[in-house]
Amino acid sequence: MANGSVVVVGGTRGLGLELARFYAGRGRDVVVTGRDQAAAEACAAEIGGSTRGIGLNLAEPHGIADRLSGVGDVEYLILAAIDRDANSVREYDVDAAMRLVTLKLVGYTEVVHVLLPRLRDDAAVLIFGGLARDRPYPGSTTVTTVNGGVAGLVRTLVIELAPLRVNALHPAIVGDSPQWRDMPPERFEALVRRTPTGRLVTMAQVVDASRFLLENGAMNGIELAVDGGWLCT
Ligand SMILES: NC(=O)c1ccc[n+]([C@@H]2O[C@H](COP(=O)([O-])OP(=O)(O)OC[C@H]3O[C@@H](n4cnc5c(N)ncnc54)[C@H](OP(=O)(O)O)[C@@H]3O)[C@@H](O)[C@H]2O)c1
Repeated sequence: MANGSVVVVGGTRGLGLELARFYAGRGRDVVVTGRDQAAAEACAAEIGGSTRGIGLNLAEPHGIADRLSGVGDVEYLILAAIDRDANSVREYDVDAAMRLVTLKLVGYTEVVHVLLPRLRDDAAVLIFGGLARDRPYPGSTTVTTVNGGVAGLVRTLVIELAPLRVNALHPAIVGDSPQWRDMPPERFEALVRRTPTGRLVTMAQVVDASRFLLENGAMNGIELAVDGGWLCT
């Protein structure tokens, strides 16, 4: 049987794009999504191969089924999208919080629901959380909350979707990702000093860890920290 496709939700930028590039480079059929249809198509063309781009907004989950209607058989589903929300309980922005909570918890779940009939029995789902789950900082109220929710989502999906596999990856700050690579040098150095390995996690290491969770058939229900040892500090 031919391989199913690799669908990367949030594949137009950052870590998702890096994974999309990797699998497209391996000759896989890849689907990348972002919010805008034209931008997603342009990104897919830049990745090359048989990559397709789809625009969908995870913060408006009712529209997701229609946007994904053209996707066929899926082997790997990667949920990596994020719309960052710097939110604190003291200065709580309800709209920003609702956008991220909807995107990450309802939107991610609706994507799985919609694609379920097209996920093969040997398919794997990979959900991106982040180290803010265990290492909160001022302004991480919503991010820490949704990353905690990712842990619950993994557990329930493993049970409900068996024999499909579902895992989560929780990266620390990925130093060469577009989100962080232009941070001020003093902040970069402070993060390096705090990391037991003495260097920040890289996008290549995140791709490598993602492949492990997606491709190793024994991995199921795992919450993998990719953090250079931060959790030991
Ligand atoms: N980068 C890091 O250091 C780091 C650290 C810890 C955890 N993470 C986690 O890793 C994942 C990837 O992070 P990243 O830094 O690579 O992200 P990123 O570069 O900011 O990319 C975010 C992606 O999400 C899409 N997106 C944003 N809002 C969306 C919406 N409402 N509906 C659908 N798609 C939407 C974007 O598409 P468009 O812009 O094209 O719309 C883009 O493809 C995230 O879940 C993040 O929490 C990252």
